[in-house]
Amino acid sequence: MKVTPSLHRASAPSKASTQAGRSWSRRTILQGLASAAALSPFTSLADSASPNPLQLPSTALRSQNPDSYWNRIRAEQFQLAEDRAFLNPGSLGAIPKSVLLQVQETLALQAEWPTDEVPRWGYESLEPERTEMAEFLGCHRDELAFTHNCTEAISYVASGLDLKAGDEVLMTNQEHPGGYSSWRMRAARSGILVREVEIPVSPKDPGELAQRMIEAIGPKTRVISFSGITSPTGLVLPARDICRVARDKGIITLIDGAHMDGQIPVDLHDLGCDYFAGSPHKWMFAPAGSGLLYGRGDALDQLWPTVCNSGWDNKTGMHAARFMMIGTNNRAIVNGMIAGLRFLKSLGADAVYARQQELARHIQSHVRERRYLEAVTSDDPRLFRAMFTFKFIPADLTTFWEALKSNKIYVLGGQRIRLSANIYTRNSDIDAFFRLSDRHFGK
Ligand SMILES: Cc1ncc(COP(=O)(O)O)c(C=O)c1O
Repeated sequence: MKVTPSLHRASAPSKASTQAGRSWSRRTILQGLASAAALSPFTSLADSASPNPLQLPSTALRSQNPDSYWNRIRAEQFQLAEDRAFLNPGSLGAIPKSVLLQVQETLALQAEWPTDEVPRWGYESLEPERTEMAEFLGCHRDELAFTHNCTEAISYVASGLDLKAGDEVLMTNQEHPGGYSSWRMRAARSGILVREVEIPVSPKDPGELAQRMIEAIGPKTRVISFSGITSPTGLVLPARDICRVARDKGIITLIDGAHMDGQIPVDLHDLGCDYFAGSPHKWMFAPAGSGLLYGRGDALDQLWPTVCNSGWDNKTGMHAARFMMIGTNNRAIVNGMIAGLRFLKSLGADAVYARQQELARHIQSHVRERRYLEAVTSDDPRLFRAMFTFKFIPADLTTFWEALKSNKIYVLGGQRIRLSANIYTRNSDIDAFFRLSDRHFGK
């Protein structure tokens, strides 16, 4: 359903717009809209011409002085606090102002005019939005559904496949709970077997990782479910090679791509997996509550839906959209996700991936220089992108963790720490972490 600007501006009930006590955020949005001239009031986001409401610095600056360019992006495009070092976008990323505005504006419109003239249900088939996302990910619209997160997409596959007791699912020993729990539930409920394959964290090359997975395939293996980039160590798996061999053997593949979309180029048809689950709220600037489910060709037709509403069995023209007919949803989040995609595209996805890895290599070089640290993530730059994990040799980190908190440095871990970096991470944030660790453990 499309809302015209005139509905928003002229025909919407004036009572709401003249009410005293309109929220601060609404005023802020409107001021933001007025100053960000390129942002049209939300009509159909998919139709809007502007990829990004706020002007970006010139790309000449990016090549002349990358730190200055990216620090300006952080300061101008994000709402991130100046005095905090956010070194864990791998768990949940930060959204740019353009995404925040888009979400706020969608909700504001719904509040102002809560009828079907404003897109508000979130379980429309969202074809233009899915088309735009599918183009970016190298698949067809009908192969792609929006979910709330990666865990949900994985659960749809694990619960929805026809498997019988004794059928085996292979996974690595580095899966995230969101990647393995639904398979374990299925094992407990219906007797499928789940087997973990130990993969080396520092393999001699990517081929060794593929080899481990392929050698582990047994006569009962029906599915291989694995992370394209692992959560604990940021290890990049040769997903394409694993999928190719699995396919030749008639084995179904599911890639947990939570760390792939937004960290490396993803071409789903080229990857050759049967299913892919994504988490654009990590690396693609999407608001929390954004997920992706892909099924190759008619692979989604082979899944039983887990959450049902009318349309659950409509496989003609609804292959992927069946998985979005799940009851009332938050349309503002979908619009925010598309705004995040546009933000990424406007920066240039390749430039984003390159900057992320540059920052991760900065982390790596700090780790190498310190006797009290041991790298866990592979040294081979082909095997990591934007996340780097290392271990502290000193046993007691209690006061260090307290110091991280009081210095407003936010990281993930315990004895092992995983630092991750997106374009809004500053080199100075990384340096601040290691300066603090030197103060505690001596360089
Ligand atoms: C590899 C992996 N899979 C799945 C998830 C869960 O993602 P979501 O919160 O989008 O469900 C995570 C979260 O960190 C992850 O790292």
